[in-house]
Amino acid sequence: MSKKLIAWNDFYSVGYELIDEQHKKLVDMINELYASFIAGEAQEKASEILEEMVKYTDYHFKTEETFFEKYNYPETEKHKEIHQSFVNKVVEFKAGVDNGEITVSYDIMNLLRQWLIDHILGEDKKYVTFFLEKGIELV
Ligand SMILES: [Fe+2]
Ligand SMILES: [Fe+2]
Repeated sequence: MSKKLIAWNDFYSVGYELIDEQHKKLVDMINELYASFIAGEAQEKASEILEEMVKYTDYHFKTEETFFEKYNYPETEKHKEIHQSFVNKVVEFKAGVDNGEITVSYDIMNLLRQWLIDHILGEDKKYVTFFLEKGIELV
């Protein structure tokens, strides 16, 4: 069994290095959770990994949102709401793991994976198209 739940693919690249690097870090974190799961260590390690994921996700989302506001991206509010609901989801997941109500499972990790990939390919590529059309460099 592969130790990676997500293999980075150039197709996921949005074309801005700064954003791609942050997305790769999120992929790494999901893979880290997955690796702990297949090693049978998820119950001990998940809380810490999820804590890091909440922090880093928040940091990444703020990076994007700062660009949205700086360049008046028309879908700023909608995109911010989507970000917030994902952060809430990870926070809830972590709380469930901490109080023993949620067991780390393949299904849950798959949801995280699916959400991230769908978001990059959908909402994130949308803002990239907008910025590229305007000739804006995100650095
Ligand atoms: Fe993103
Ligand atoms: Fe985003």
